[in-house]
Amino acid sequence: MAQNWTPTSWRQKPVSQVPDFPDAAALAATEAQLATYPPLVFAGEARNLKKALANVSEGRGFLLQGGDCAESFAEHGADTIRDFFRAFLQMAVVLTFGAQQPVVKVGRIAGQFAKPRSSNIERQGDTELASYRGDIINGIDFTPESRVPNPERQIMAYRQSAATLNLLRAFAMGGYANLDNVHQWMLGFVKDSPQAERYRKLADRISETMDFMKAIGITPETNPSLRETDFFTSHEALLLGYEQALTRVDSTSGDWYATSGHMIWIGDRTRQPDHAHVEYCRGIRNPIGLKCGPSMTADGLIELIDILNPANEAGRLTLICRFGHDKVAEHLPRLIRAVQREGKKVVWSCDPMHGNTITLNSYKTRPFERILSEVESFFQIHRAEGTHPGGIHIEMTGNDVTECTGGARALSGADLGDRYHTHCDPRLNADQALELAFLLAERMKGGRDEKRMLVNGWA
Ligand code: PEP
Ligand code: CO
Repeated sequence: MAQNWTPTSWRQKPVSQVPDFPDAAALAATEAQLATYPPLVFAGEARNLKKALANVSEGRGFLLQGGDCAESFAEHGADTIRDFFRAFLQMAVVLTFGAQQPVVKVGRIAGQFAKPRSSNIERQGDTELASYRGDIINGIDFTPESRVPNPERQIMAYRQSAATLNLLRAFAMGGYANLDNVHQWMLGFVKDSPQAERYRKLADRISETMDFMKAIGITPETNPSLRETDFFTSHEALLLGYEQALTRVDSTSGDWYATSGHMIWIGDRTRQPDHAHVEYCRGIRNPIGLKCGPSMTADGLIELIDILNPANEAGRLTLICRFGHDKVAEHLPRLIRAVQREGKKVVWSCDPMHGNTITLNSYKTRPFERILSEVESFFQIHRAEGTHPGGIHIEMTGNDVTECTGGARALSGADLGDRYHTHCDPRLNADQALELAFLLAERMKGGRDEKRMLVNGWA
């Protein structure tokens, strides 16, 4: 167990990005109530994810992590979850096929509610209000009442996470993710997109191979890995009072786990080594993500790795790099070299979203070509350094939104107003996400052989 650590030891450290709750007693009461609620995930599941990520860190697998920038109470519904899950499955199948390696599937979902902000204040016209910090903290409406942090929201977020996770588990294990359904994961509005034909062809090849395998007796009925998939949840561990309330001892190992999600990550703004967020995360045994932006130094990274993963356990730590398309070449190689020199075991993942945000026609957006460019550079740099480009971390939705420009439908700045729904950062729509998956698959493919994917299973 981590030395001198308890689920509350973060409270002794300086903390960034926490809201000022006006009613401390109400906050404490909510946290006490949450601490009596059932865990959302189990330690054994987090350990399974860690094992899968350990394989990725050793070059045998690829991490697909994605979902909303911020989940919202208003958009909680079965259709949104289903559409996200099918867009995600489509990406996963394209990547599995391209990489001929297991794809570890981790959603930014069922707990991704709290947001760090670059400014404490939002200004509209002459009015200034406290910034929106995610539905778990305050409301997005631009009124003074809505922006007051309200602890009750944590109960709502917990309940929404539980309901979302329940549906995701049913989709993953109850037949929806059966590879026999590979054609049906096509979303309505993607059907007539430029990606549709490519996807159909790939799905045809998978179906053909499934038919062949059925003929020789390997069927989804006899082989669970063809009819089920492992799907994990993740979010930024920003609101530490909430995280603490859901931190539980695993009765089988005696270790502490965050049970708010399978994997949690530390944001780029809250990764100070002597501050609260790092303190909390060092003591729980889940797989942890660490966002690495341009200000991360090589020494700073090694210091954080030593704190967060002192035993150098494979699968424990995923470095989520988010430099920007024009900065990745400057920053990634020095971090890779430091990690290699020190022999640290990590998963290298690329977040091509957070370093590529611009403002266009008053909308926060991300040009698709910059996202692709950062991903391309990430792959090239890893190839040059002899390391494994192990994953991708994206903000995406299954809905037909217009939040990122570009892509095969060439969304322009003028289109952004049509369906701009995000509660925080701009997301790839399902079309753009699938296009990105095809590009990644091209980069990863080698010795294409669809039968191998099916024989190895898709879980
Ligand atoms: C995020 O992932 O939504 C986020 C805020 O990222 P970062 O900490 O990298 O800025
Ligand atoms: Co974001």
